[in-house]
Amino acid sequence: MIVETVVVAIWVMLPAYIPNNVAVLAGGGRPIDNGRTLSDGKRILGDGKTWRGTAVGTAAGVFVALALNRVHPFVSDYVAADPFPIAAAVSLAFGAMLGDILASFLKRRTGRNRGAAFPGVDQLDFVIVSLALTAIVATGWFFETFTLAVLVAVFVLTPILHVSTNAIAYALGLKDEPW
Ligand code: CTP
Ligand code: MG
Repeated sequence: MIVETVVVAIWVMLPAYIPNNVAVLAGGGRPIDNGRTLSDGKRILGDGKTWRGTAVGTAAGVFVALALNRVHPFVSDYVAADPFPIAAAVSLAFGAMLGDILASFLKRRTGRNRGAAFPGVDQLDFVIVSLALTAIVATGWFFETFTLAVLVAVFVLTPILHVSTNAIAYALGLKDEPW
């Protein structure tokens, strides 16, 4: 059933969807790269990647996974996914932040300034790294949960959700650019 697949895809990806949005709200303070540049004269990561945004974003993602685990017994008839092992909660949340950080590294190396759009990378960086990390640290749960159908749903839905949440955050004045 397509609805069932979509429900699982969104449910299991929520701990990876939340961190970047929370980082937008919680970000600020010391940038991870401490203002340093590489030999190309560009910042390593830029002012948009901060310790506070990364820490609070990751914590929020882990919190969401644990909250979903609490809710799971009541909705298990509708959500065909096993509860998040703690390792998966952490890897989904931290992997999402790490993917976004690696994307900023790539953006700076390709001459894109902070806030510049990088179509494709902006929408999928966090999915690829959070899934890869989860496959490594929670292998059994990962392959149990991410069937081919769920993976297809994730790769179709994520860019749509990403573009729409960022457009909303921009419209609300929370984000400087709509991507
Ligand atoms: N943010 C943060 N720490 C992170 C990720 C995001 O503090 N690890 C905050 C920053 O305030 C950032 C905002 O969230 O400006 C928006 O995130 P994003 O669009 O990823 O950063 P940009 O400022 O657009 O920078 P970049 O070009 O490097 O993506
Ligand atoms: Mg940005």
